[in-house]
Amino acid sequence: MSQSVHIHDVPETFKKRALIGSHRYDEMYARSLKDPTGFWGEHGMRIDWIKPFTRVKDTSFAPGAVSIAWFQDGTTNVSLNCIDRHLAERGDKVAILWEGDDPKDSRRITYRELHAEVCRFANVLKAQGVAKGDRVTIYMPMIPEAAFAMLACARIGAMHSVVFGGFSPDALAGRITGCDSRVVVTADEALRGGRIVPLKKNVDAAIEKAGTVERVVVVKRTGADVAMVAGRDAYYHDLAAEVGADCPAEEMEAEAPLFILYTSGSTGQPKGVLHTTAGYLVYAAMTHQYVFDLHDDDVYWCTADVGWVTGHSYIVYGPLANGATTLMFEGVPNYPSVSRLWEVVDKHKVTILYTAPTAIRALMGAGDEPVRRTSRASLRLLGSVGEPINPEAWEWYHRVVGEGRCPIVDTWWQTETGGILISPLPGATRLKPGSATRPFFGVRPEIVDAEAKVLEGACEGNLVIADSWPGQMRTVYGDHKRFEETYFSAYPGKYFTGDGCRRDADGYHWITGRVDDVINVSGHRMGTAEVESALVAHDTVSEAAVVGYPHDVKGQGIYAYVTLMAGVEPTEGLRKQLVAHVRQEIGPIASPDVIQFAPGLPKTRSGKIMRRILRKIAENELGALGDTSTLADPSVVDDLVANRR
Ligand code: WT7
Repeated sequence: MSQSVHIHDVPETFKKRALIGSHRYDEMYARSLKDPTGFWGEHGMRIDWIKPFTRVKDTSFAPGAVSIAWFQDGTTNVSLNCIDRHLAERGDKVAILWEGDDPKDSRRITYRELHAEVCRFANVLKAQGVAKGDRVTIYMPMIPEAAFAMLACARIGAMHSVVFGGFSPDALAGRITGCDSRVVVTADEALRGGRIVPLKKNVDAAIEKAGTVERVVVVKRTGADVAMVAGRDAYYHDLAAEVGADCPAEEMEAEAPLFILYTSGSTGQPKGVLHTTAGYLVYAAMTHQYVFDLHDDDVYWCTADVGWVTGHSYIVYGPLANGATTLMFEGVPNYPSVSRLWEVVDKHKVTILYTAPTAIRALMGAGDEPVRRTSRASLRLLGSVGEPINPEAWEWYHRVVGEGRCPIVDTWWQTETGGILISPLPGATRLKPGSATRPFFGVRPEIVDAEAKVLEGACEGNLVIADSWPGQMRTVYGDHKRFEETYFSAYPGKYFTGDGCRRDADGYHWITGRVDDVINVSGHRMGTAEVESALVAHDTVSEAAVVGYPHDVKGQGIYAYVTLMAGVEPTEGLRKQLVAHVRQEIGPIASPDVIQFAPGLPKTRSGKIMRRILRKIAENELGALGDTSTLADPSVVDDLVANRR
């Protein structure tokens, strides 16, 4: 397979200016594995400390005793590192460049202004009673105030839990109660692609289910007239007028929690991934600098939403810790036209663009002309994240968007990893379209088979990471046992990623996708169990099984097999109702693409659903159903095949 791969050399222009060339990569990588303490002890100094650390790495993946701490006796504050320390030299540099949904709307916030905004926001939170260690839920549009709120939490030592604005009130309620948030920060409404999302209304509905909320801070975005509950809700601008624009940063221990981010797993409800202060920041900042070959004059744009980890690490924390200009985009790639991304690139002279394969594929589908009619001359580096990028989309991104001039960094990582673990470095790595290539410094990927045997050389199997890195999640919030079971039980002593991976003879990594019951829809993670429980919550449904199937634009689509209660008619109308029901329970990203009514599901005699068979049918691999003789009732498979949609 590797013979047919089209290799792209490191461009000469990059070789000259890049922070890390290929020799330096080899040297630094080798050292990072040989002497993690020396290596990270040095790179831990890239952030400012209040009290310097003397310990570097205290980590163990030992079964039953997983514990992860980095730089643990040091103290610092994330907002000091993202703001205050830049003021002397970069006070007037633009920190956040905001591009609104409407192309006429934009804002530039300098580091000095960011300082005042974040201090003010922090004082508002304090005035609401938020203190060190409290959890604040942030349910916001992509506006600068979302970043202000995050940094304000960091400044006063509160943990934030950002919930993507596309999640439903029910999903929001679960995430509010999951971490006992007393305070929610939201906006009146969000605006995306010209459409309104009623955030405040959703918060009200969520609070009806989640009893813990005492205060709601509402940022005005559209100015819509929204219901305000007296004594509980207040507008941010009113509260801000009462407080000052200076707020001292709390001294935080290195391992103090920074944020919780809920993410879907293979079982149960989403879990609260916990990231802490110093290790996370060191890792986010360092990967951001090296993977994107960041220079002081770059205008960097990551198109993610702050509701996902990509937004945390590579819109807010990494770039701001590095004193970069980070562009924050409120809109969507196809509004007002499919040229929007490229128009924004030209308008703000973006030099680095980081986006997702699903967006690339969708825009590729619109043809070259909408791209060609823009200049894009400012671009020098492109990035991809969220799911495997197919070589065809990679080549289009490279040839059409980047005019053959810009390397592409295909960055593999996860909510749990805090930052990028496998990726090219643009000045060091020859590129193979579709491969995330090689590990970042300090990262020890291994490929293992089902018996936990470590495979050598060119091979394919499951991807594990053999040792800790500073950006690693520390625990599942409030449930350390679940943390150990989820990530350290399949391959004791190693972190299991949930991904399959092939490694070629050059040591390049090719992520093959999830090997567990997580599906990746447009780069967003969805647990099949969550969609199933939403479906069975409908009174017509007796049983449901959900699998992923290949989808041209989304990467994977959601295929749901639904068994109805006795006597319920399987109609088109009901199918629509069920899709609407899932949207309402979780959010639009969880909408099933296909619902197949199934009188029975393929089960073993012990009652376990054979998902392998359901996956094959959804993928239309009907010749590969395998042995069905162990099923309690093999005839259900014939019905499923006959009624495939
Ligand atoms: C899963 C993690 C990391 C931020 C966005 C998603 C898939 C992510 C790549 C890539 C192939 C990728 C994996 C991973 N994934 N990046 N470059 N190539 N697959 O974060 O929601 O935690 O999802 O996304 O399957 O396990 P997430």
